[in-house]
Amino acid sequence: MRILLTGRNGQVGWELERKLAPLGEVIATDRATLDLADPDAVRRVVRVTKPDVIVNAAAYTAVDKAESEPELAMRINGFAPGVLAEEAKRLGALLLHYSTDYVFDGEKATPYVEDDPPNPLNVYGRTKLEGERAIQASECRHLILRTSWVYGARGKNFLLTILRLAGERQELRVIDDQVGAPTTSGMIAAATAVLLPGVMKDAQAQSLYHISASGATSWYGFAREILMRTGLRNRVIPISSRQYSAAARRPRKSVLDNGLIIARLGIRLATWMDGLQSTLEELRAAR
Ligand SMILES: NC(=O)c1ccc[n+]([C@@H]2O[C@H](COP(=O)([O-])OP(=O)(O)OC[C@H]3O[C@@H](n4cnc5c(N)ncnc54)[C@H](OP(=O)(O)O)[C@@H]3O)[C@@H](O)[C@H]2O)c1
Repeated sequence: MRILLTGRNGQVGWELERKLAPLGEVIATDRATLDLADPDAVRRVVRVTKPDVIVNAAAYTAVDKAESEPELAMRINGFAPGVLAEEAKRLGALLLHYSTDYVFDGEKATPYVEDDPPNPLNVYGRTKLEGERAIQASECRHLILRTSWVYGARGKNFLLTILRLAGERQELRVIDDQVGAPTTSGMIAAATAVLLPGVMKDAQAQSLYHISASGATSWYGFAREILMRTGLRNRVIPISSRQYSAAARRPRKSVLDNGLIIARLGIRLATWMDGLQSTLEELRAAR
């Protein structure tokens, strides 16, 4: 199997390059070798590499910055997936793409299922929703995996930010009125590698799924768990989103219901606490 991977230096992309390797030849690209903001480059690279699968792990993920760069965010998250989809269709390739819980407004009391109507609150969410729709409209063979609150042992993420801040300040103020499921990049990549061979052969399985760690917490709960498991004694003060002035609005409760992917593909991710534990162990081992 020839796999064209985008975003090899991202959190999920880095893990995917390693976890997909046993499945075949992975042609891993970064922004320098495949700039998703350039549709001609996207077409050229797909036509030259002729993959069986395109795994799109690249995205414009700076949620707050996207508010002031909506066009660039739309080009990368909204239009580029559509171009990848058109090219996948020409080749008969499968497009595997990642999306986000931020397509929802967070007002639902229970976890979101795939068919719940999206209503993004910010530019990032709107551009990611556009990307999903462009892929679906192309009618290429595709798999869209919506996940949430991604972090890992490398990259820019909440875990590494909390560990850094814990070394700089005695007191940390962390948002307590946004609830979600922190999901590790390793879990997402491992699940992708497990499901890909089956999904390649089964047209019925090619669809949109929610896939996040089991359980849920707030950013405050996540921060407390990080400090507790690392033996750090900083004081953590819960604050509201209103007290923390971010450029982008975020959903209050964007927990995803993973029932469909569990039932149809037999994939169930570990709990967010288990994910945190293994990421902390990975960080310790790397020290
Ligand atoms: N992070 C989250 O909390 C989260 C939550 C839900 C869903 N997701 C989704 O999960 C997927 C993976 O996210 P992630 O956390 O791994 O993101 P990430 O760590 O921010 O990585 C994104 C990668 O995309 C690359 N990229 C950005 N613009 C590009 C362009 N114009 N051309 C080519 N590459 C470009 C970045 O390259 P540079 O290194 O050069 O910037 C980076 O390597 C994305 O689809 C994201 O929307 C993420």
